[in-house]
Amino acid sequence: MNERTPDTHTVLDAITLANRAPSVHNTQPWRWLLGDESIHLMADRTRRLTATDPDGRDLLLSCGAALHHLRVALGALGWRAIVHRLPNPRDPDHLAAVELAPKAPSTEDITLAGAISRRRTDRRRFSSWPVPDGHLDLMVRRAGKAGALLVPVTGRLTRRQLTRAIDAAADAQAHDPAYGEELAAWTGRGRLSRDGVLTTSTPPDQQVHGDTTMRAFPVGTLPYAETGRGENDAGDLLVLAATGDDLVSVLRAGEAMSAALLTATDLGLATCPLSQALEVAHTRSLIRARVLDRAAFPHLILRVGWAPIAAPPPPESHRRATSDTVGYLPGTRHAP
Ligand SMILES: Cc1cc2nc3c(=O)[nH]c(=O)nc-3n(C[C@H](O)[C@H](O)[C@H](O)COP(=O)(O)O)c2cc1C
Repeated sequence: MNERTPDTHTVLDAITLANRAPSVHNTQPWRWLLGDESIHLMADRTRRLTATDPDGRDLLLSCGAALHHLRVALGALGWRAIVHRLPNPRDPDHLAAVELAPKAPSTEDITLAGAISRRRTDRRRFSSWPVPDGHLDLMVRRAGKAGALLVPVTGRLTRRQLTRAIDAAADAQAHDPAYGEELAAWTGRGRLSRDGVLTTSTPPDQQVHGDTTMRAFPVGTLPYAETGRGENDAGDLLVLAATGDDLVSVLRAGEAMSAALLTATDLGLATCPLSQALEVAHTRSLIRARVLDRAAFPHLILRVGWAPIAAPPPPESHRRATSDTVGYLPGTRHAP
């Protein structure tokens, strides 16, 4: 390492942590290109879910989450990431160019980096304990700092509009054979799979937690959280939104999703992204009109709550080897 740039091991360690970011169906639709003094995030559209995610929104959100995870990891390792989003107007897949400068890690960098390996998507029932307002406020503030709006849906009527939109989207997708084929291809994966959703991460049947319909997976062995069976699920729903619907707005919304999920994890909360209602054009416009009063564009829903007290954490989902996600710019010193 010199004083101005981290050595390759540090960069690869940060990328290994960044690759832990959540992604739709664990597709990990990104690649990293390393230069001597820069890291580039590229969208990998060969990993896009064409039937599930026709607009490519989930793909961009996933890439935004990886970018935020990278910033947090570099921060904890003593490097500030200076991010240029969509730096090349001729290449919309070149999502970010990241330059680095030394800096002392902040407490926030360290706590959020510590949450990366503890965060899991938890599709089970949550307990009846309410999430304290202060916890939601911190998630909202951190999401805002990362560049998007996070809107807790607290009113009874608005929440009903939102959960009805989720139901309608789930129903529309259930009747779409191409959606079903994609779901079957990317889920129900065995223990050794390095991408896709593991059988052990999804419940055996369709879950409806209180008023909230979860995405249904064709197979699953995730056990019920026994202690939560009789309890009312007090999961909160938050809509992640932005004032724009362009590539940078969605990328930033993905960064904000990561900030909110890592904050929740650090606070001990369980989380689950829900994207079905934003994948179907009709239900997305319903949410924009009825939940956001057309003031912003919705990009994702987050479900947050307390896992039942004695429930073990859900299993860790796997990631591709770091080396499979990294390439080098021509002429780079450390290129193999
Ligand atoms: C944009 C996006 C959309 C997602 N949508 C859903 C969803 O609708 N239902 C669900 O159960 N999980 C959803 N997930 C969670 C992913 O399946 C999960 O992140 C991935 O399988 C990796 O697992 P992990 O989060 O436990 O690391 C979504 C994640 C992202 C980033």
